[in-house]
Amino acid sequence: MFIGHRYWYIACRSPELKHKPLSITIASIPIVIFRTVNKIAALEDRCAHRHAPLSAGKICQEHIQCPYHGWQYDTEGTVKKIPALPPDCKLASNLNIKKYHSLEQDGYVWVCLADTPATPQPEKFPYLDAPGWTSFRMKTRFLAPIDICLENFLDCPHATFVHRFWFRTPKAKPVKAIVKTLEDGAVAEYIEEPRESAVVWWLLSQKNTQLQHTDRFIAPSTSRVDYIFSDQRHYIITSSCTPIGDRTTEVHTVITFRVQPIGWFIKLFFAPLSRFIIQQDVKMLNLQQANIKRFSPSNYKFTPADLLLPYILKWRQSNQCNENSDSPPPPTGIEHHVNMLL
Ligand code: FES
Ligand SMILES: [Fe+2]
Repeated sequence: MFIGHRYWYIACRSPELKHKPLSITIASIPIVIFRTVNKIAALEDRCAHRHAPLSAGKICQEHIQCPYHGWQYDTEGTVKKIPALPPDCKLASNLNIKKYHSLEQDGYVWVCLADTPATPQPEKFPYLDAPGWTSFRMKTRFLAPIDICLENFLDCPHATFVHRFWFRTPKAKPVKAIVKTLEDGAVAEYIEEPRESAVVWWLLSQKNTQLQHTDRFIAPSTSRVDYIFSDQRHYIITSSCTPIGDRTTEVHTVITFRVQPIGWFIKLFFAPLSRFIIQQDVKMLNLQQANIKRFSPSNYKFTPADLLLPYILKWRQSNQCNENSDSPPPPTGIEHHVNMLL
């Protein structure tokens, strides 16, 4: 099993799952998800008979039908009909296929591959659809593992290079960061962070207010960046990572913000700008991963300015996320202060 297999992962946006089955892959496992009249379901994408993909089949009311010989399965993976056999013929249980947990929440279809999920539901996206808040979503494919994607989303020093002038400008301004471990991950909080002279900040920031900025890792596969300028101006960027394979990650980003009363107007340019900026990260990580393949194995070096990756790695390698591990996650309440330049 893969790291974090007991957790929920986004399979697709809810509107993508219509009346046709959908083929998805999570942790290299091919899965078919489908919507019947009453519910959604996730099954192994392989008919028990001759292993045709059920995702190429169709929905027959509460069942999915294989395209090859028409076997029908219910949402539990139990075979319910074999068209070549008389209806009174008893169907053996070894004809059933594997079922996975699935549910819909916050406009996404989520799947958990373990028999017992870590939590009954995934964590909700904060303020999504709340009054006074505006949001948009992005889906981005990275050819990089989850831990490297998470570090990228939570790391400030790369922004002055990869997103130079768009998000940060290299001015070597002193900033103090406080890193704390939490019950479900770790957070970096920036103290007296100066305003940037960059495109995003010109458009979105607010002058003469006390800025609060936190970057949070939520184990095992979520990052959350939070900028609070005032009661009226607040941005939350949550990235939920789904492992497609060892080195491929689908990132579902939800950007929720409160800019009263012009949220809809801000979204007009904030959405395309965010897509442009995340593509800069895609390019950088593709370049990095291609280089890692040229030198194997990798041997990263760390400095105090690498705030969160050490905790991301410890968490993901702990017994909370990895069934083959004996080590516990980092204890809650560790705190250290880092002086850095941004
Ligand atoms: S392969 Fe599915 S019914 Fe034969
Ligand atoms: Fe970035």
